[in-house]
Amino acid sequence: MSNQSIPVQLNLNVRGLQPSATLRINERCADLAKNGQKVFRLGFGQSPFPVPVPVVEELKKHAHEKDYLPVKGLRVLREAVSFFHNRHAGIHTTGDDVLVGPGSKELMFLLQMVYYGDLVIPRPSWVSYAPQARIASRHVYWLPTKPENRWLLTPEGLDRFCQKDPTRPRLLILNYPANPTGSTYTEEELKNMAAVARRYNVVVLSDEIYGEVHHDGVHLSIATHYPEGTIISSGLSKWCGAGGWRLGTFTFPSSLRWLLDAMAVAASETFTSTSTPIQYAAIKAFQGGTGIEKYLRDSRLVLKTVGHAVSGFLLKNHVAHPTPEGGFYIFPVFDFYREKLAKRGIETSEELCARLLDETGVALLPSSDFGFPEEFLGARLSFVDFDGDKALELAHEMSEADFKNTADLAEKFAPKVMQGVRRMVEWLNG
Ligand SMILES: Cc1ncc(COP(=O)(O)O)c(C=O)c1O
Repeated sequence: MSNQSIPVQLNLNVRGLQPSATLRINERCADLAKNGQKVFRLGFGQSPFPVPVPVVEELKKHAHEKDYLPVKGLRVLREAVSFFHNRHAGIHTTGDDVLVGPGSKELMFLLQMVYYGDLVIPRPSWVSYAPQARIASRHVYWLPTKPENRWLLTPEGLDRFCQKDPTRPRLLILNYPANPTGSTYTEEELKNMAAVARRYNVVVLSDEIYGEVHHDGVHLSIATHYPEGTIISSGLSKWCGAGGWRLGTFTFPSSLRWLLDAMAVAASETFTSTSTPIQYAAIKAFQGGTGIEKYLRDSRLVLKTVGHAVSGFLLKNHVAHPTPEGGFYIFPVFDFYREKLAKRGIETSEELCARLLDETGVALLPSSDFGFPEEFLGARLSFVDFDGDKALELAHEMSEADFKNTADLAEKFAPKVMQGVRRMVEWLNG
């Protein structure tokens, strides 16, 4: 047998692509921890909370289910998902409008394969939209945002962009509460954005995976104002603590049924259908009920407490960012420390994150992974490196009025996050 290996022959669309940034940082942290270093995992955005007990019980009950399910998903689950979004967004979908997949990420990829049009995303956006577009041979346009607008896209920005070629087919992905900034749109902002999207027939993929972990539980959807052009993306990963279960959902307006059907064809030739026991368990999650409402209330209060404590500490130390309104993330910008860092040979976000990790064990994700140029000194900080079971237990008996002293409580809920953030600020001060 010859030892000669097969030369590298990769499709140009994947040649040179690195593994997804978030997964890369997780593996690097695991290596450091294996070598005995204390690691503060502020780079990876997994829910810290356990899957709610009623949902786990449903999974156990259906562990024996072994048959393939219909490509689009289990009928009862599709109905539960449509009902969930109708209730939250005031829209009128039915179970026929829902597509279930193995994670919303996979559904997003299929959408980009199937829909013919450019991908338009705000800068910053979640790490996977643009690489997916590249693999699917789609053009990507990053639209600028500003810190004074909480790093959110403005309707004027979208309008300016679409005006250049008004009839071009476009897919706009809006994610709110946002990864990596924790910002979300107001009702007025959504209304105005909807008007612009409607003017140019833009298909909006509304990535609402963090919707249920809006810190005040008042998430709004652009679908309310632009029902005919919005696909709502959701799933179990963030608000139900079940990222590894891999279940995501897309809810379409009936006017986009052709797109749902085309995606189902692509799904039938790729993933076939989503795990059967997981779909049964997901029915419970989407149907909700008092147990899940209580779980969500406690999760939100814990996240808000920790997010506000980290934010307050960073602002006091001249690390600029919008205070998070939902989800797990803060997007600090280190401009105040630029000169000091330059003297230590740090001029890019990648260098900043690499040196910070090596010298303190604090892991962040560089802003270059979210669409910014190398020299922009920003990063994503996830504040979820804590024991979610314990935090929920503490929160369980507390009334909303008990959540006053944010800084002290955050030390109880998330001691390691607070320690990591202090270490980072000490390091910034040299
Ligand atoms: C903004 C955003 N969208 C989508 C996803 C994908 O979620 P999943 O594929 O687990 O449904 C993630 C996961 O990190 C995310 O942060």
